[in-house]
Amino acid sequence: MRRKIVGSSWKTHIYSIYEGKKLAKEISESVKDVDDVDMFLLPTFPMIPLISTTLANTNVSWGAQNISFAEKGAYTGEVPPQVLRELGCKYIEIGHAERRTYFNETNMTINKKVKLALNHGMIPIVCTGETAEDKEQNIGKIRLTTELMWMLDGLDEEDMRKVIIAYEPIWAIGQTEAADENYVEDIHVFLRNRVEKEYGKEIAENITIIYGGSVDPENAVKLMSKDNIDGLFVGRFGLKAENFRKIVDAARGKVE
Ligand code: 13P
Repeated sequence: MRRKIVGSSWKTHIYSIYEGKKLAKEISESVKDVDDVDMFLLPTFPMIPLISTTLANTNVSWGAQNISFAEKGAYTGEVPPQVLRELGCKYIEIGHAERRTYFNETNMTINKKVKLALNHGMIPIVCTGETAEDKEQNIGKIRLTTELMWMLDGLDEEDMRKVIIAYEPIWAIGQTEAADENYVEDIHVFLRNRVEKEYGKEIAENITIIYGGSVDPENAVKLMSKDNIDGLFVGRFGLKAENFRKIVDAARGKVE
């Protein structure tokens, strides 16, 4: 049985450390009774030390939205994996569409980051998603296969037991509506089958595949009704504790 997971990336929506601390406190308070879903928050790098003290001894984990592609060295502006580990990061988001678009991240760089996160005992949340154009031309699954194979290249079975795949169709990020739950389910089955081809049935059945892209408390219920959607990766609608709690309840199947 795959355990459900709900996490929120704050991107740069939350742009004050003190705002971040307040929100982390409100969110952790609002979900403190939850023990059947894993939960995480991904603030910006400089907020991590303060937020880690707020979330320590709660049931909400924390992580980072990015990681350096190199262990150490002359890489101005990058944040090395060991620092993130020392800050208690459990999850590292890697290869988000916004990183690919605005910061020219490639599948090859992403692959290096995935390996570094794993080497430092952190869980990579590996993002993949097709563009609107891919979808129109019916080549979305080709893009997903290419990205997945590149990003996971060289990982062994042990590594694959730790990886989380985040399916985030680019056309559904930052919109008013999420992708349709049946569409997402079909893609998650496709991704799971791809993993099975490379790593076998047992790994594929156990790998966690989450969906991100305009998730809100309402569509969360529909999305979480699907067998192969193991969790939700929330952006804008996770910036209020009340919403975060509702989305967590959707993942638990506890919605009136
Ligand atoms: P939105 O929920 O704001 O569309 O962002 C989704 C996302 O990119 C999560 O990683």
